[in-house]
Amino acid sequence: MIKPVGSDELKPLFLYDSEQHQQVAKEAKNLSSVIISSQAASNAVMMGGGYFTPLTGFMNVADALGVCENMRMTDGSFFPVPVMCLLENVDAILGSRRIALRDPNVDGNPVLAVMEVRAIEKVTDEQMSLMTQKVYRTIDPEHPGVKTFNSQGRFAVSGPIQVLNFSYFQSDFPDTFRTAVEIRNEIAEHGWQRVVAFQTRNPMHLAHEELCHMAMQRLNCDGLVIHMLLGKLKSGDIPAPVRDAAIRKMVEKYFKPNSVMVTGYGFDMLYAGPREAVLHAYFRQNMGATHFIVGRDHAGVGDYYGAFDAQTVFDEEVPSGVLEIEIFKADHTAYSKKLGKVVMMCEAPDHQKSDFVLLSGTKVREMLGQGIAPPPEFSRPEVAQILMDYYQTIK
Ligand code: ADX
Repeated sequence: MIKPVGSDELKPLFLYDSEQHQQVAKEAKNLSSVIISSQAASNAVMMGGGYFTPLTGFMNVADALGVCENMRMTDGSFFPVPVMCLLENVDAILGSRRIALRDPNVDGNPVLAVMEVRAIEKVTDEQMSLMTQKVYRTIDPEHPGVKTFNSQGRFAVSGPIQVLNFSYFQSDFPDTFRTAVEIRNEIAEHGWQRVVAFQTRNPMHLAHEELCHMAMQRLNCDGLVIHMLLGKLKSGDIPAPVRDAAIRKMVEKYFKPNSVMVTGYGFDMLYAGPREAVLHAYFRQNMGATHFIVGRDHAGVGDYYGAFDAQTVFDEEVPSGVLEIEIFKADHTAYSKKLGKVVMMCEAPDHQKSDFVLLSGTKVREMLGQGIAPPPEFSRPEVAQILMDYYQTIK
């Protein structure tokens, strides 16, 4: 099986040993504590599940600046985005060696993780803006990822963590949420050798479905892992339970039995386009995928990124040799009226734009909101129905 990034084995930071778990949970009750940001909490969940192996905890400022600058921490190890615990106020934890990190997303703010504090540093405005520019390629406060990153505090608390639970993800998505450990185990149980992963934060329309079929066929894969984001999104995006239902219906009807795993991970969307695509590839390697699909405007938002920046970043910015997972770079995929099937546009050079069925996201949302199903060349009727039902509930 493919090895995790920079490590021979997965290093989940969740305390799987029940005695140790009990002991740390007990200790946490008497520790100084802070409620962390949702972004920091979702980083803890990812580290807990082994997705960010070999990280051992939250980065200090020098490491965070290094990864923003050239995807390298100060010790030279590779990571694509800063993994920081940024707090507004650190009065409650000053002088404490070990602290409890409380979950902002669960009632009562239970302890999510315990940190061994190595440093508490003030991040300057210049450093914040430098990191923002490098990761998001803009410092526009209207960019949803920039807004979230910068709305955190300016004290970076760093050090190794021990994770006690997976926040709300396990209880809210019991059938879908998986750790990297679990996905690796399931891939091994299936006996799959070549596994392609598909990232999504949207319901899957026909182009997405066909993209997965094409990747499986062309890469000669024996398994597909649809791996959806279950954390926070910007307003207007479709909630995870609805996406989950639509994707499951699509898989049940249109994929070979036992060839697909429908799964999800607990992370808030960054909308960081190219940088997020690299992070996506990173944690797909850690969960055991050998290939990863990156299509058009991957993890993008608005017009902040070029349609294929999230593909070129792998050639232009990712240090060579750090990732073993192979990127399946897909062109814009759409239904061709001439050919009567979904194709990659670059493979139909004789086509005009009008030869394809193209609908904007806004148009599709408008149709679904009015109870009108998009054409079957765009969306499977079963998927459209689930989405129309959802739009009825938010009217
Ligand atoms: S993302 O933010 O999670 O990337 P989305 O769920 O829309 O958004 O996309 C999932 C994957 O499908 C990404 O790799 C994206 O580039 C790809 N994709 C979405 N639509 C198309 C399309 N029409 N043609 C090619 N690739 C696409």
